[in-house]
Amino acid sequence: MNIKEIKAGVYYVGVNDRTTQRFEALWPLPYGVSYNSYIVAGEKTALIDGVEISQCDNLVKHIKEIIGDKHPDYLVINHMEPDHSGAIKVLRGYYPNMTIVGNAKTLEMVNGFYGISENVIAVKDNDTLDLGGKTLSFRLTPMVHWPETMMTYVAEDKVLFSGDAFGSFGALNGAVVDEEMDVEPYIPEMYRYYSNIVGKYGMPVQKALAKTSDLAIEYICSTHGPVWHGELSRVVSIYDRLSKYEAEDGVVIVYGSMYGNTQEMAEAIATRLAERGVKKIKMHNVSYSHLSYILSDIFQYKGLIIGAPTYSNTLFPLIESVVQAIKTRELKNRVVGAFGSFTWASKAVSRINEVLEESHLLDTEIVSVENKQAPGNIDIEKCRALADAIVDKM
Ligand code: FEO
Repeated sequence: MNIKEIKAGVYYVGVNDRTTQRFEALWPLPYGVSYNSYIVAGEKTALIDGVEISQCDNLVKHIKEIIGDKHPDYLVINHMEPDHSGAIKVLRGYYPNMTIVGNAKTLEMVNGFYGISENVIAVKDNDTLDLGGKTLSFRLTPMVHWPETMMTYVAEDKVLFSGDAFGSFGALNGAVVDEEMDVEPYIPEMYRYYSNIVGKYGMPVQKALAKTSDLAIEYICSTHGPVWHGELSRVVSIYDRLSKYEAEDGVVIVYGSMYGNTQEMAEAIATRLAERGVKKIKMHNVSYSHLSYILSDIFQYKGLIIGAPTYSNTLFPLIESVVQAIKTRELKNRVVGAFGSFTWASKAVSRINEVLEESHLLDTEIVSVENKQAPGNIDIEKCRALADAIVDKM
């Protein structure tokens, strides 16, 4: 049942969700997701983060396997989002004397969501809670990715409970700690989690990394995905790069196409990119690729070329969603181009560029390409020139 003693007195008691189809009702979960909860047992016992409401019974079963009929003395809430806090009210039913520990913003949300205001402790930055043999210390790391987010550190064990930071999609398939599993499937799921959920908050993530840089850390226990130990430096480095909006060499082409004409332009661009030696070219037809995967690639690669037809005198709607998602996440440090087509009235490319300008991503030296009706030879040459401009800028 995935229960694991990570270090003496520090246990994983989380649960797997293999039935929810969309995280936040938005993001696909083809491999499920884990809601990670932990127990730190000194003379007193703290439960660190909870689970989504439908998994509460399983969490209680896991808790009982570790502490039997004893009650946890504390529930530390590093993150109040309901995928971790949904079970709070029911847990309070099981364990009425369990004190809820959070910062002022957390407790305001606990009251607002669940009507709980009694038997709570508000902690501030660097406060500690002595469990007897284990000391919890709290680092407030707001906006990773909610205002109340914080991290909890156990100095005696060099364990950091990081909330969503360093988390990934993907249920845990038997093992809990990275070195006991094949971690490779979780790495792209970490990119996807970051770009989908946390991506807007690069600066707060950087502040959180700085705020925890003085801690000796052997284990990072996130709220989703593997516990990181053997791969610590790798995942910290991924988070550092993602939150600085740094990217690898490669180009993402994301396009919509109703009848294949815009797609023909996309193919011409990709062919020229390959001729220019770009090996990592990720193509997404927006009608088939979910936004979740498109964003993940956009956060990974340096080049981005967006194409669409004009639709009812505006931008093809699915590409409008993509450019808005990019704007929302305040994407930076990318080389971006646009292309598109129309039948009688031109709009798609100007709308893409309008949102790119609002997003501070528009490079006026990279000439957009827009063709009327089916692309001819001249349009294809312009597509190849767009690919050249992207490669030259990268
Ligand atoms: Fe895993 Fe932000 O909730």
